[in-house]
Amino acid sequence: MKAVQIVELSGPREALRVTDVPEPKAEHPATPGRGVVVEVKAAGVSFPELLQTRGQYQVKPELPFVPGSEVGGVVRSAPDGAGVKAGDRVAAFCMLGGWAEVAVAPEFFAFKLPDELDFAQGAGLVLNYHTAYFSLTTRGRLARGETVLVHGAAGGVGTATLQIARGLGARTIAVVSSEEKERVAREAGAEEVLRSDGPWKDQAKELSGGGVDVVVDPVGGDRFTDSLRSLREGGRVVVVGFTGGSIPEVRVNRLLLNNTEVIGAGWGAYVMSKPDVNREIGQAIDRLTAEGSIRPVVGARFPLEAAADALELLEGRGATGKVVLEVS
Ligand SMILES: NC(=O)c1ccc[n+]([C@@H]2O[C@H](COP(=O)([O-])OP(=O)(O)OC[C@H]3O[C@@H](n4cnc5c(N)ncnc54)[C@H](OP(=O)(O)O)[C@@H]3O)[C@@H](O)[C@H]2O)c1
Repeated sequence: MKAVQIVELSGPREALRVTDVPEPKAEHPATPGRGVVVEVKAAGVSFPELLQTRGQYQVKPELPFVPGSEVGGVVRSAPDGAGVKAGDRVAAFCMLGGWAEVAVAPEFFAFKLPDELDFAQGAGLVLNYHTAYFSLTTRGRLARGETVLVHGAAGGVGTATLQIARGLGARTIAVVSSEEKERVAREAGAEEVLRSDGPWKDQAKELSGGGVDVVVDPVGGDRFTDSLRSLREGGRVVVVGFTGGSIPEVRVNRLLLNNTEVIGAGWGAYVMSKPDVNREIGQAIDRLTAEGSIRPVVGARFPLEAAADALELLEGRGATGKVVLEVS
């Protein structure tokens, strides 16, 4: 089958090779002897793959390997007792191996793709939307009527967080860096959009009548202290990622003075050993999709052979929504 491999750790342009490899067996390392085999129609592109081309991601498979954490496609085979069967359209999180014509996912990470969504949207459903739901609810304890501020709001996690927050009855404030991203954030459900290079902290406090309840932060870096300052009493900053490049440090006296919290949200590590939690999140995502709240934003599509271009778009801060490789 055709696939893209990472063959060396020299960054997106040099590290990737389009090649022919044997099809995978019907088993996944997370579920030895069992696995859902998917004929891949579209594969998601995300930050971990960019880091993997430089050996900077926490998971460091032996070279060469096929990257690609998630796909939209059609089930070729599934073990007895799996929630999906041959012929089903699915959104599947395979962790690795997605940038190929055939991929394998653990059954607890293979979800029937709602009729409302196409394969490219399916390739952007699991990582971003499950993370967003987990960050807002399980970790952020979001309540209906609360105000959520979302950094990197036009990105993959950002657009997912806006859609889910709206679907859960929250008010939404987006922070973005450009006019084009402002448009994307509004389409994803932002009621207010602020610029990351402007006085967003003061504007957010004013718009929310004294401070926001939850900040979802996939960006990190310098803006973190202002995120804490933008909270109302009892507010929570949920730490999701560090696309801004640096990992912020917190002076914890700020938390004490204002009775606020900083909460980590590591979706993959949390749900990996909890099939029931995955099913519950999957059901919530289905419900929000049926209600019309969830519609993954596919900002760019590339052929599989142009995976390097897709990674460079992410790296150059040019991506909006989900970047997708069209496989077949
Ligand atoms: N914790 C978890 O479980 C979990 C799960 C999934 C993803 N993540 C992490 O979440 C982060 C966001 O992922 P994503 O897929 O949403 O990425 P994305 O689509 O590329 O969006 C990231 C946003 O970060 C902002 N940004 C600020 N400085 C940047 C820089 N120097 N380079 C690139 N972007 C920059 C950009 O928004 P502006 O230009 O508007 O500032 C961009 O839209 C990643 O670090 C990812 O690893 C974590």
